[in-house]
Amino acid sequence: MPRPLRDPKRSGASGPRVVLGVTGSIAAYKSVEILRGLVKAGAEVRCVLTPNGARFIPPLTLATLSANPVAQDPFDVSLWDMTHVSLASWADLILVAPATADFIARLATGRAEGLLDSLVLAADCRVAVCPALHENMWKHPATQRNVGTLRGFGYEVWGPGRGELASGVVGWGRLLDPAEIVSRALSRRALGRRRAGGKPHAA
Ligand SMILES: Cc1cc2nc3c(=O)[nH]c(=O)nc-3n(C[C@H](O)[C@H](O)[C@H](O)COP(=O)(O)O)c2cc1C
Repeated sequence: MPRPLRDPKRSGASGPRVVLGVTGSIAAYKSVEILRGLVKAGAEVRCVLTPNGARFIPPLTLATLSANPVAQDPFDVSLWDMTHVSLASWADLILVAPATADFIARLATGRAEGLLDSLVLAADCRVAVCPALHENMWKHPATQRNVGTLRGFGYEVWGPGRGELASGVVGWGRLLDPAEIVSRALSRRALGRRRAGGKPHAA
């Protein structure tokens, strides 16, 4: 299987290396804007889609804009150099935007069935999770407990914000503004190292 889409002009990019994880939220279309912002700022970005994320955003869009293949299947040998372990050690930052309630729950319990889940588990770089979900899902004690658990792991949780949600109601659960996410992702603090399973190193 071909492994195209790598632009040689970009392969020497000296900016931060970011894994952008996209999960199955209606806000997934905003990941395109986040990706564009990161690439414009000089970051090298590799996208990882959950199977449900791929229902919302075509891999081709992310592959084209990142100039890299999109990783989806941990068993895809054509992406042999993009397994959860090598991608985890490659990244300066794993940014999951948007992150669903289910993904947050999986991270909190240490699940490693999907590529994105196992990638985060294998990483010792900074991890930032940007929730996007219905207000009731966000406020549910299970989600609040899970988010607390992620913070305890040393992960960053950025947002959600308050505003108009996909349902049309105004409330908490909106993905942070893509420009704000890009700005946080490129800050020095976000790119510091994090001890595996523990508190972040001071950046
Ligand atoms: C149209 C639609 C929109 C959805 N939007 C969200 C969302 O914004 N946030 C969320 O947590 N779940 C949302 N879900 C539910 C998730 O897609 C579902 O929990 C899924 O299992 C998440 O998979 P993933 O986290 O592996 O990508 C939505 C489902 C549908 C059908």
